[in-house]
Amino acid sequence: MALSDFVSQLDQLIADAKNAFEEVGDIASLEETRVEFLGAKNGRLKAAQKLMGTVDKADKPTAGKKFNEVKQTIEAAFQSKKELLGDPAAAKKSGATFDPTLPGVKFRLGRLHPITQTIEELKDIMGRLGFSVADGPEIEDDWHNFEALNIPHEHPARDPLDNFYLGTANANTGGDKPLLLRSQTSTVQIRVMESTPPPIRIISLGRVYRPDTADATHYPMFHQMEGLLIDRSVTMADLKSVLRLFAVSYLGGDVSIRFRPSFFPFTEPSVEADYFWNDTWVEFGGAGMVDPNVLRAVGYDPEEVTGFAFGLGVERLCMRRHGITDIREFYKNDVRFLEQF
Ligand code: DAH
Repeated sequence: MALSDFVSQLDQLIADAKNAFEEVGDIASLEETRVEFLGAKNGRLKAAQKLMGTVDKADKPTAGKKFNEVKQTIEAAFQSKKELLGDPAAAKKSGATFDPTLPGVKFRLGRLHPITQTIEELKDIMGRLGFSVADGPEIEDDWHNFEALNIPHEHPARDPLDNFYLGTANANTGGDKPLLLRSQTSTVQIRVMESTPPPIRIISLGRVYRPDTADATHYPMFHQMEGLLIDRSVTMADLKSVLRLFAVSYLGGDVSIRFRPSFFPFTEPSVEADYFWNDTWVEFGGAGMVDPNVLRAVGYDPEEVTGFAFGLGVERLCMRRHGITDIREFYKNDVRFLEQF
């Protein structure tokens, strides 16, 4: 075959291939066109390669060079069409149809943890009752976690088996008093009273830590809502009204709650508050009238002011509200659980 014939056949092949890839509108016809031109067995390029064998020997180098150019051009036409079809925006431009029945791109929307949501709601409810929010550190000293709360040295609440002690504070932080992860948010009562004169009406929400074995109702870290109200002539009736109002606002108007006499070193008298759920009474917190010793420890005059305090378990409230029966669900980080809130 003469070189000129071979070249003109190749030119025709390029023109046909370019046209064909240009017209392709979807992946299936792209593949058909690829097989037609670039198919390893019966593709038209393969046929052209065979023809090259018939070109005069002297012209072979020129023919070979031309053939390689053609091959590269056709492969490039195929590649660019392939990329175009892979990109929906580009595919649209090339005339490919948009398929509205395909599933859309899913947005995975984040959300707040149920306990965070509960905390926000509790702040909201207590805010309407006139309580503002106070905060305190999770690493505490002996004074704020025990001493100022009228918990004496030999009291079992200080037992190392019931607390996460962190070793002792060094000279920088003040002497050799032990530090611990706070076991209760009552610490914040002391901090607020130390820095603020009465009257006081605060809540504080945060984490507390106790070395309990995790089971359906216990976890070594959980949240409490502490409340403190100090003023002139505050009585137990005020405490019970506030807790009842709170319980009704959070758990609903039909909730039954009761108060049982109890003991806490930092309140006198003391009560425990229960709500009724699943045929049993469930304790949701402790409360009482602030002990005069506590008022004295922070420099208040118990003859001048009185007050009440309470500490409620946030998880337990949230569990009752949503019918959750195992506290561990909160901290498994299982999105199938978390996504429901
Ligand atoms: N701090 C107590 C606890 O962790 C709960 C508590 C009881 C807090 C009575 C109070 C209170 O403020 O008055 O079990």
